[in-house]
Amino acid sequence: MKTNSKLVHLGRSPETNDGVVNPPVNHTSTILFETLEAFEAAKKGQGTRAQYGRFGSSTHRAFEKTLAELEGACGALLCPSGVSALTTAYLALVKAGDHMLVSDSAYEPTRFFADQVLAPMGIEVSYFTAADIDDFKACLKPNTSLVVLESPGSLTFDIQDIPTIAAAAHNQGALVLVDSTYSSPLLMDAYALGADLTVYSASKYVCGHSDVMMGVITAKAEVVFKRIKKMHAMLGVCTAPDDIYLVQRGLRTLAPRLKHHEAAAIEVAKWLEQQPEVAAVLHPALPSHPQHALWKRDFKGSNGLFSIVLQPSSRAAVAAMLDSMHYFKMGFSWGGYESLVIPFSLQGIRKTFPYSHTGQGLRLHIGLEDVEDLKADLRAGLDRFSKAA
Ligand SMILES: Cc1ncc(COP(=O)(O)O)c(C=O)c1O
Repeated sequence: MKTNSKLVHLGRSPETNDGVVNPPVNHTSTILFETLEAFEAAKKGQGTRAQYGRFGSSTHRAFEKTLAELEGACGALLCPSGVSALTTAYLALVKAGDHMLVSDSAYEPTRFFADQVLAPMGIEVSYFTAADIDDFKACLKPNTSLVVLESPGSLTFDIQDIPTIAAAAHNQGALVLVDSTYSSPLLMDAYALGADLTVYSASKYVCGHSDVMMGVITAKAEVVFKRIKKMHAMLGVCTAPDDIYLVQRGLRTLAPRLKHHEAAAIEVAKWLEQQPEVAAVLHPALPSHPQHALWKRDFKGSNGLFSIVLQPSSRAAVAAMLDSMHYFKMGFSWGGYESLVIPFSLQGIRKTFPYSHTGQGLRLHIGLEDVEDLKADLRAGLDRFSKAA
């Protein structure tokens, strides 16, 4: 089955479900056992039924199997948010005395958790400049057990050379985890590039409708998957079946939505490159991106997310632009059907600045609205920005 067919057909079996197209949604805390043998087997995790609702039902199993198959992973686990998926994986894979090496452009809560939870537990944490393979090699230590990548990285869309990084990491026994939220399961084959695990927020494109929080962990090798599964169970991480139903519904239309986001974002990004108020556009699919060649080598496409840097101006000018946007409302998310904008600063979250511009950074999410409406909204915003400067 090719990917688009998998998105439509995996995880459901109308023939065993009264012909109903979508899989049933099982709500439960209690699971019953008819025999002592079945009860004892479930307790050891060996039965055909889960021991208890916290470990999920057939609704969870069907969706996890679908997500694992999509990526060619040996297993997938659902978590109540992308952040809980990341933190569950970190807790499973590092222990006191280990070194965790993190890409500098990783999502900020990864940094918070590493610095504020893992470091006090005796785990050495350090960051490498995302787009600098020499810095990565210099930061790798004999006790590095986990390398955390996010490519393209948050806000600045730095591309990491995953095959080269994975080869160096594996050479000394470290695992490579890729936060693949940007790609969802579709835009990059993380396992072919050398990753050992992928973690992503399904609250973004997979759900696609800005109304559910969910995270996913997948692993390539059984031995790694078992470690994560154990931590997932011990932490009591569980997800609600209604949320799974909605995210699974989003997955069915992921491919055409991503294509639309991609084309619209490239059109808007190219147009923004021509606007005098814009000092830089940070979009990996544009030839102006410093790692465009690497992106072309490793990715199958882009999505609706990119950043711009405005010409240096006052806070009042930025407020004049952002306060009156019609479509681009400010919101800390992306991957839904709607366009969004957030202002950002890299102060304190980068070892080195990946660009020399000093103006305000804005991350844009290009939604499914008409591109001409979006350009008009941005043009009006840039006019307010210039006027208030
Ligand atoms: C790259 C990346 N990873 C992880 C997350 C966290 O996902 P969630 O919001 O579902 O916790 C986000 C959310 O914005 C993200 O952008």
